[in-house]
Amino acid sequence: MRPLGAASAGASQAASLVAVPGGGAVPRHVAIIMDGNGRWAKKRFLPRFAGHKAGVDAVRNVTRAARAMGIEALTLYAFSSENWRRPAEEVSDLMGLLRHFIRSDLDELTRENVRLCVIGDYHAFSPDLVAMVDDAIARTAANTGPLLAIALNYGAHAELVLAARRLAERARDGVLDPASIDAAMVEGELDTRDLPPLDLMIRTSGEQRLSNFLLWQAAYAELLFVDTLWPDFDGDALAEAVAAFGVRQRRYGGL
Ligand code: FPP
Repeated sequence: MRPLGAASAGASQAASLVAVPGGGAVPRHVAIIMDGNGRWAKKRFLPRFAGHKAGVDAVRNVTRAARAMGIEALTLYAFSSENWRRPAEEVSDLMGLLRHFIRSDLDELTRENVRLCVIGDYHAFSPDLVAMVDDAIARTAANTGPLLAIALNYGAHAELVLAARRLAERARDGVLDPASIDAAMVEGELDTRDLPPLDLMIRTSGEQRLSNFLLWQAAYAELLFVDTLWPDFDGDALAEAVAAFGVRQRRYGGL
């Protein structure tokens, strides 16, 4: 695997693809807005929790499929900074499922050389969950294989505001010339700084918006909106998405 560094901006992202024999290119970094759990449950006359639970199974399947395809980084939108607006019971269910996922899947991720990381301010979660997430990150920190980034209490606006604030503080302290601030410097302050440039953003369930997810990083990403509800999204669906990506023409503003 190539070494990971701070993501690079604009045209330099053109170098981010891995060619696969006989096919298109496999995206290095795929992000997914996992939408449609509630509708999946409703269609089956089940409580919303059942949809989220089935969503965790889809997380497991898609993570395995991404590894098998050689995708270097997979970023999953598990809990947005706006999801606190949901009923307390649903928020608590989602936290419970995250706990369950870490307990049940960490051994496999460790064994498979996956490095787990988190984007977003998960320190707003309850202390026991923060400790679990910290432990999971620490246990996989030395792994050199694919990256699984889980977005927890993540919002792109908050991420960019924090980045701006940190740069402004350094300028105020006289250690940074404001005129020297460039895109790479901003990227170095983002939660995704250790991930490869984003190549493909997928949203399931037919909705067509980014919902405050990776807004900076999506600048040159290919966007794919599919009707499949997240619990039904599997390895085959990911393969189809990767195939659709492989035939896209990326020009980065050029011809
Ligand atoms: C959106 O579907 C989904 C979420 C807000 C949560 C996604 C969470 C999971 C898949 C499970 C936890 C993840 C991990 C990594 C353990 P929705 O409920 O808004 O669906 P709807 O629009 O059909 O109501």
